[in-house]
Amino acid sequence: MYDKGHGYSVSIHYDRRLYKQDIAGSVAHARMLAAGGILSDSEVELIVTGLRSIREEIESGAFPWRDSLEDIHMNVEARLVEKIGAPAAGKLHTGRSRNDQVALDMRMYLKDAIVDICDGIRGVQLSLVDVSGAHAGTLMPGYTHLQRAQPVLFAHHLLAYFHMLERDLSRFRDCLRRLDVMPLGSGALAGVPYPTDREFLAGELGFSAVSANSMDAVSDRDYLAEFHSAAAICMMHLSRLAEEVVLWSSREFGFVTLDPEYVTGSSIMPQKRNPDFAELARGKTGRVYGHLMGILTVLKGLPLSYNRDLQEDKEGAFDTIDTLQATLEVFSGMLSTMTVNRDRMELASGESYMLATDLADYLVSEKKVPFREAYGAVKELCSYAGSEGKALGDLAVEEYRRFSPHFDEGVYRISAASSVAARDIEGGTAPRRVDEALRRAREVLDQGGPARAMGRSRGEAVT
Ligand code: ARG
Repeated sequence: MYDKGHGYSVSIHYDRRLYKQDIAGSVAHARMLAAGGILSDSEVELIVTGLRSIREEIESGAFPWRDSLEDIHMNVEARLVEKIGAPAAGKLHTGRSRNDQVALDMRMYLKDAIVDICDGIRGVQLSLVDVSGAHAGTLMPGYTHLQRAQPVLFAHHLLAYFHMLERDLSRFRDCLRRLDVMPLGSGALAGVPYPTDREFLAGELGFSAVSANSMDAVSDRDYLAEFHSAAAICMMHLSRLAEEVVLWSSREFGFVTLDPEYVTGSSIMPQKRNPDFAELARGKTGRVYGHLMGILTVLKGLPLSYNRDLQEDKEGAFDTIDTLQATLEVFSGMLSTMTVNRDRMELASGESYMLATDLADYLVSEKKVPFREAYGAVKELCSYAGSEGKALGDLAVEEYRRFSPHFDEGVYRISAASSVAARDIEGGTAPRRVDEALRRAREVLDQGGPARAMGRSRGEAVT
């Protein structure tokens, strides 16, 4: 009927996902029309009952999806005609267009998706905090340039990701706040000529504001561009953590052992335990970045107002939602089930060269040597020790003194543990500070789901 037979304009195979939002929007719209005297009480009753049974049909799998009707809106409307007859069903679309209808549906869908994603982020943060708490004192080498740099606490390293995810969460919340705007009443583009109580619709559908310009309302997809960017950044964070997990679980590092649930064997090498889930998360980041480019490109040349190009906003959005939700779920499971090989980490963090900065710091704070002079002395000391094949702790005091007369027995008190303890500064890796950071992180998590407090769409509640 709508599609010309070649299927090019058909979107029902993916936009059927919007059925709950579409039906909830129609129910609210029908009630609003009834309040305005456009529908009688018996008509609205008929429409709401019909929509309810359509929803049941969809959920039980009995709904007759038709490609010829192109999209979710036309499929539901045509089915309503079959169920309650054209006279009543035909009035539902009074003062509405598919243009403001689809804008409504997508906003509602995304609101719910963002709330779920925020829950998923909280789940990963919880795993990070749990692992950090269970390994509060565990030392590990901290890296720059992927070279061992200075010892840190493993918990300090993990909590860095807690903070990245906290920023992600705030980006999603911010996006949610801006997309929480109800577009019905905009019609095709110019607004509608019927009495339309937009505030009532917003209230029924759980929106906190109504759109201010009908042309903007039917063509705006900024909220998707924002959502895709927040998702891309979040995936980038997870991908970085995935890379760490891949490295840490390698034989070279051996810092963690992944639960069998999160590794796969090789079809040819019997000894292999491949970190496929972490690798997949790293790989799937590509498609999420791609969808961000996709939506930005779809939008860039569009004149006002609605253009059919906008139908291309959906598949990418759905795929990003699915990918991000699944990745968050994998991470919270993978992190909370991995075994942390404390001995391996502490062995690696005991490497004496990582204490070179501490030796220089020792000369500076205990002996008042200028930092650059101390730095030079320790640099030469390290290359001497390296050429002798010795650890710094194995050098005699006399050997130390060859590089600076200020060295004394005190150098032997410098260790990985003393090194981290010395970084006793807000944001530093000293155990006291990390405990405090952990306590604050728990507090944030205990405050509960801030995303939920912003409110779901009322897609579930309305019918
Ligand atoms: N399926 C369409 C979309 O997703 C719905 C709006 C169609 N509007 C139109 N004027 N053809 O954008």
